[in-house]
Amino acid sequence: MGAIEVDKLRKAFPNGVEAVAGIDLNVEHGEIFGFLGPNGAGKSTTTRMLTTLLRPTSGGARVGGLDILKQSAQVRRVIGVALQDAGLDYLATGRELLEVQGRLHGLSGRRVRERADAMLTLVGLKDAAGRRVGTYSGGMRRRLDLASALVHDPEILFLDEPTAGLDPASRQAIWDEVVHMNQKRGITVFLTTQYLEEADRLANRVAIIDRGRIVAEGSPEELKASIGADIVTVGVPEDQVAGAEKALATLDGLKEIQSDAKGLTLFVHDGSGAVARVIRLLDKAKINVGSITVSSPTLDEVFLRLTGSRLEGATEDVAS
Ligand SMILES: Nc1ncnc2c1ncn2[C@@H]1O[C@H](COP(=O)(O)OP(=O)(O)OP(=O)(O)O)[C@@H](O)[C@H]1O
Ligand SMILES: [Mg+2]
Repeated sequence: MGAIEVDKLRKAFPNGVEAVAGIDLNVEHGEIFGFLGPNGAGKSTTTRMLTTLLRPTSGGARVGGLDILKQSAQVRRVIGVALQDAGLDYLATGRELLEVQGRLHGLSGRRVRERADAMLTLVGLKDAAGRRVGTYSGGMRRRLDLASALVHDPEILFLDEPTAGLDPASRQAIWDEVVHMNQKRGITVFLTTQYLEEADRLANRVAIIDRGRIVAEGSPEELKASIGADIVTVGVPEDQVAGAEKALATLDGLKEIQSDAKGLTLFVHDGSGAVARVIRLLDKAKINVGSITVSSPTLDEVFLRLTGSRLEGATEDVAS
């Protein structure tokens, strides 16, 4: 049996928004499963249903072999959860927060102290353990979230955008800890993210969700290979995008063109071979080519191909 088995899971909110439109997923034991999608795709709603915090409108799921509807109390015992909008108590110290979490999960006083110590060491917060959480940096708070999700030694860990808004070093620290938990303790991880690189680096399998529906599922390599094309990115002035698109419609080996204000993304057979022909066609149409690059597809292009839009800000966001 899989670690997480999702069956036609659906959530329609009373205001009429169908946040999750009946999805099926399977996560194996010991996997890091990336759940990737843009803002509002339904990632948090799915996570909240799987962690028994929100009741599905229909459909269901098993987590750790347990029914999320009929066995919700048992489900909570085997999972750890770090939510996107975790409400940390800023006046408590890091250690106090972990101990409260441990108590909530029914650990004894001695066990709680042992576990809190071990987790504080694991996430590198031992020295800051006695400080109020209000004095922690964003990265330290995320590490505390992670420690608190792990304090009762769960089998399955749910992380909802664990590195959103973090600087690259803090992000790397969280990544290292997630991989460590997975490799050293065999913990299954369900990781929600908008960051392609995060899914690509950590997950052995990903599902891409868009507007409540799963649009692709597989290993990052499989998804990229499924495109069966190279990517040629052409930068042209905004007022020439339409003209460029028209000029390139007859390009040999062209599978698809997507355009935005900055230029065009061409899905082509043999990208390097196509570059000269692209330049010739654009030249003939008197289009000013600002830049042209050839690359293998990334998960962003998988998403673009499937939905017609990019997972915006996914890469720039952090650097800026
Ligand atoms: N309590 C609610 N009532 C009504 N609509 C909601 C509620 N919670 C979420 N939604 C809507 O459901 C959709 C999915 O939201 P969700 O939070 O699951 O997206 P997400 O993929 O987690 O997005 P983000 O990346 O921004 O966190 C959105 O349109 C959102 O506005
Ligand atoms: Mg969310």
